Amino acid sequence: MHSDIEYVLFSKEDIDNCLKQLGSRITKDYQGKKPVFICILRGGAIFLSDLIRTVDLPVEIDFFSLSSYGKSTKSSGIVKIRKDIDTDIFNKHVVIVEDIIDSGLTLEYIIDYLHKHQPASVKICTLLDKPDAHKTEVKIDYLGFEIGNSFVVGYGLDYAEKYRNLPYIGVLKKEIYT
Ligand code: IMP
Ligand code: MG
Repeated sequence: MHSDIEYVLFSKEDIDNCLKQLGSRITKDYQGKKPVFICILRGGAIFLSDLIRTVDLPVEIDFFSLSSYGKSTKSSGIVKIRKDIDTDIFNKHVVIVEDIIDSGLTLEYIIDYLHKHQPASVKICTLLDKPDAHKTEVKIDYLGFEIGNSFVVGYGLDYAEKYRNLPYIGVLKKEIYT
């Protein structure tokens, strides 16, 4: 696995430090509330599990899954629900937990969908963002790191379901996916 990585973008230590900061901001912003963290599967799973342990509040978690890239490294923009949330989010404070925002189309779909359940609020927390790749307006409330347009893997992010268990985030060698 490691030999498929061009270079490491964020080490485990970088990620840990980033999570501590995100966690304390969320803890401050949601004082007296019990936010529902909705993790977007599968990429967001590792981020969610580490993130909630930096949040010093009672929280709920749930999972949402849409059709993914499959083996491609480009977003199709076509989304299909694979797993819906099980929590009643009516009047609740929702935090969407994403691994990475690329075109922003997935997120746009999710936000529209969740708003139909009339939550009290919806905020976006993403570990990574590719601002140059946005195809729609994206408002991020909690951001880990901004990156360029390279394809990255590790810490939950995959290419063809591989590399999710890398403890760091790295740029995948081009020859792996071309
Ligand atoms: P969007 O709809 O184009 O914003 O797609 C976002 C989703 O595409 C993310 O949740 C990831 O699952 C996937 N994705 C986008 N860029 C990357 C990447 O560099 N590595 C791995 N997955 C990615
Ligand atoms: Mg994803």
